[in-house]
This record gives sequence, structure tokens and C-alpha cells, in this order.
Amino acid sequence: MKVIEAIRERRSVRKFKKKEIRPEAIKVILDAGRWAPSAGNRQPLKFLVLSNEEEKEPLAKMYVEAYRREAEDLLNREDAEKYYKNPYEVKKRILGMLDLLERQLRDPPFVILICGDTRLSRSYIFEAGLAAQNMMLAAWELNLGSCCIEIATTLLSEYFDKEKLKRVYNIPEEVDVVAIVPIGRIEEKPPNPGRELLKDYTYTGYWIGD
Ligand SMILES: Cc1cc2nc3c(=O)[nH]c(=O)nc-3n(C[C@H](O)[C@H](O)[C@H](O)COP(=O)(O)O)c2cc1C
Repeated sequence: MKVIEAIRERRSVRKFKKKEIRPEAIKVILDAGRWAPSAGNRQPLKFLVLSNEEEKEPLAKMYVEAYRREAEDLLNREDAEKYYKNPYEVKKRILGMLDLLERQLRDPPFVILICGDTRLSRSYIFEAGLAAQNMMLAAWELNLGSCCIEIATTLLSEYFDKEKLKRVYNIPEEVDVVAIVPIGRIEEKPPNPGRELLKDYTYTGYWIGD
């Protein structure tokens, strides 16, 4: 598969089959993350791989809890409309899909936590994003699904109990968990949500608009 094709065709998969995948596949995916660039090649990332029920369950529960807390708090937030057009609808939708959210992290055979060592780089969140994209493209090429759930800067991150997450998985204090990337066989490929036109993404020479 051509890189450009994987970039265009990849979708964020949220429904996975409860089926094993070849262990070599996960190695290829992790290696794609390893080869992501980092500032000064400081390589501040570590990948924590969860692969059985016992390992995945606490994370899945914390993920659902974070979404539940976000939904419950949404209408109290003055800035809710900065994040969602219709916070009331979003609250309803999230509370109606807590079971699905839990399965998003329980069904796939592998869940990768992309972690950044804050002592090694100021830009570890950026570097984690690059690694996540490499992993998702590698997974797509192998006919596997993935999704990037970022818990360092998103609204969801405000409701994620990171202290508990670190305690449960023995993650050192100076290490931040940036993203959760489930990997598995695709149960349902989501429709293409599209992007703005390239002409609306791009200015040439000088900034136009706003
Ligand atoms: C920073 C970031 C945070 C995201 N958070 C979530 C998330 O919490 N849950 C989820 O299912 N998808 C999450 N996604 C995936 C996006 O929803 C998805 O990339 C977007 O809707 C476009 O769809 P596509 O990846 O299929 O093109 C996130 C993506 C990014 C880049």
C-alpha cells in the first residue's frame, strides 16, 4: 500500500472484533512508532502494551468513567460550546454509549499507551502524535483498525484520573500518558467524515481571511 493511500483511506476504528492478531503485526506497528521523529532525536516516548483482559479492563473502566464525568459536567461548563455545537445532544449521546466506549478498549487484542518522559523533551506531546499516526498508518496497511484517543490536552483529559492510571500501571511520576491507541481487527469501518477543501486549508504567500 502506498503511504499516500494509507493516509487518505485510514479511518478511526471504534468497533473491533474480539479476535487475536499475529504478534508480529503488533511488533511492526510499535516499530513504526519507534521510527517517528523527535526533537534532537531525544526519543522521549515509551509504549506500554496491554494485551489481556486483566491488563485492559482497568483502563477501559477509567476511560468510560472519564467520558461519564465529562458528560455529567458538560452543561455546567461555560465553555462547552467551544468544544461541541450542541452540548445537550453530546451529553445524551455519550451517556447512551458508555457500554460501546468500554468495548472500544476491551474488544481489541492490543491497546497501546503512548507515554512521554517529561524529563527528556518539552515536545513529547507532539512526538507522541507523530508516533500515533505512524502506528495507525502501519496498522491500516496490515488491514487492522486503530484509533487515537488523546488524554493529555483534550477536554476528556480534564476528566481522566491520570494519578490512578499511573498507579495501576506503575507509570513513574515524571512520565505522562499522552494517548491510548487500540489495535485490532475491524468490526465496522466508519464512514469517511471528510475534510475541509485543500483551498480552505491553505494560504499562499500571506494569510487571507479572519
Ligand atoms: C487529539 C485527538 C483526540 C481524539 N480523541 C478521540 C476520542 O476520545 N475518542 C475517539 O473515539 N476518537 C478520538 N479521536 C479520533 C477522531 O475522532 C478522528 O480522527 C476524527 O473524527 C476524524 O476521523 P478519521 O480519523 O476516521 O478520519 C481523536 C483524534 C485526535 C487527533
